[in-house]
Amino acid sequence: MSDFVPVDTLRRRCDAALSTLVAGRKPDVLYAPIRYVLNGGGKRVRPVLVQLTAQTYGVAPNVSEPVALAAEVFHNFTLVHDDIMDAAPERRGRPTVHTKWDESTAILAGDWLMGCATRLLCDAEAPTEDLLDVYHPMVNALCEGQALDTDFETRAEVSVDAYMRMIDGKTGALLAACMAWGGVIGGASPETREQLHDAGMAIGRAFQIQDDLLDVIADHDDWGKAVGGDLQAGKKTFVTLMALERASGATHRMLKRTLFEEGGCPPDQIEAVQKTMQDLGVFEAARGAVARYTEAAHGALDILPEGPARMALLDLLNQLQERAY
Ligand code: IPE
Ligand code: IPE
Ligand code: MG
Ligand code: MG
Ligand code: MG
Repeated sequence: MSDFVPVDTLRRRCDAALSTLVAGRKPDVLYAPIRYVLNGGGKRVRPVLVQLTAQTYGVAPNVSEPVALAAEVFHNFTLVHDDIMDAAPERRGRPTVHTKWDESTAILAGDWLMGCATRLLCDAEAPTEDLLDVYHPMVNALCEGQALDTDFETRAEVSVDAYMRMIDGKTGALLAACMAWGGVIGGASPETREQLHDAGMAIGRAFQIQDDLLDVIADHDDWGKAVGGDLQAGKKTFVTLMALERASGATHRMLKRTLFEEGGCPPDQIEAVQKTMQDLGVFEAARGAVARYTEAAHGALDILPEGPARMALLDLLNQLQERAY
């Protein structure tokens, strides 16, 4: 059994490994934006989930590192393409790749990152077939979720159930894969891997609902993305759907028109929408949902061997609930 390596150290090692991944490569037209993305910070939640889960089985982080990096590199690929799809100007407190360069550059940087993630996964000291059995369904589910997310922008009515299916794809699938990969590396049984996957789906729900909430109420400097970006883009998010569900009469009509009927919320209406959401108790409802899914994830993680790595996982989930970015 190796010594337990805590979250801060895992994050630092991940940053360091990512920054050496493409150091000095040419041509710059391809690798400069890739370096920009990989050196741009981020919470590194996904690699930490892989490595903590593997550690609960006594597997040292240097053994799980290729899979952890694969998860983070894949995540960064999805962010670069997501920012094009969402027409997002900022991420991690800096201009997005397609804004700093252009869309072609961002598409190609994303493509390279996806290929790199696949290679890292196949380099790992764990049964490749089992890792790929988790990877391929995850890619399908994530793309399906992103497709629904985009489709919902122009749909008049979206149910909370449909929203949940959408976020299970775009966000839950990768987090669930991280948990399942940790199990594969640790030698967990197929049944246990399945339960770890379910725990990751609960983490995904909590994580995306919190992301939707922060998109409306965060402090811009902490958040590093445009506050109100989802409102302006006419996104169907937990908070916009909940606001419509709770509002009635003139308030309902105003919200529907402002948020969804004219191609998204005009910037000068954002404050009024925030105030209406606050009055409707939407932010409290979102916090409640985040707490419930975090609790569900905690319960599902009972299946992991007890010890400091499992404690660290539970702590991480609690910290994510309190996050400002
Ligand atoms: C953002 O993910 C995309 C979502 C699934 C909401 P993170 O919030 O993990 O982004 P970084 O990596 O920390 O920047
Ligand atoms: C993120 O959803 C899902 C993926 C990147 C696959 P969002 O569009 O809400 O993520 P942010 O808010 O841009 O980080
Ligand atoms: Mg986005
Ligand atoms: Mg998006
Ligand atoms: Mg978001």
